[in-house]
Amino acid sequence: MKEKEQVKWVSYLFSAPLFQFSNNLSTKPMSASAEMPYFIKPSVNMNSEAKKEAYEIAVAEIDAILNEESNMIMKMATFNCILKTRLPYCYWVGFYIVNDGKLIVGPYQGTLGCLHIDFSKGVCGKTAREQKTQIVGEVHALDQGSEHIACDPNSQSEIVLPVFDKDKRLIAVFDLDSSETYSFDEIDKHYLERLLKTHFEERPLIKAYIQ
Ligand code: SME
Repeated sequence: MKEKEQVKWVSYLFSAPLFQFSNNLSTKPMSASAEMPYFIKPSVNMNSEAKKEAYEIAVAEIDAILNEESNMIMKMATFNCILKTRLPYCYWVGFYIVNDGKLIVGPYQGTLGCLHIDFSKGVCGKTAREQKTQIVGEVHALDQGSEHIACDPNSQSEIVLPVFDKDKRLIAVFDLDSSETYSFDEIDKHYLERLLKTHFEERPLIKAYIQ
């Protein structure tokens, strides 16, 4: 789907149910937020101690579940499920996979993600270009459309990490978004970088996507 068509669809998905089913919507213009679908909850930030405890559990679960597994998509889907289950500030979680010099959406959990992201755009693009983890406390403070791409207007903060294979080739970026500001910090970076290194660089990996 072309970028313009996707924007049309995303705004339709967010705006149509609001105008059809919500009482107060005719007076409420679309802004930096939208009603959440029934299966998505608003984010809840965690203090450092609670966050570390949640990660210890999540890491143990992911390590155990993926022990002896090598399929890339299976690994990505499992990361998404366990992290979204354990981290209550995880509003959207998913992978953008390097495909033909661009990023295309891979396994994710959350509202509809953009399908294509150019390396020149957004926090995901910056992560792919610089091959370094990016933490953004307030995404709406960034230039919209160039520095940040708002797939979902409810996203307020995010962390995006590069994903490498054993040869240190960039294969994807891993994007976690929160509907609260300042949800992500060095603790997230530490645990997520370690998880990605273990499962995508150090353990066997069979790529199921063409690059
Ligand atoms: N916000 C990202 C785009 C991906 S979505 O948030 C799922 C970015 O600016 O690159």
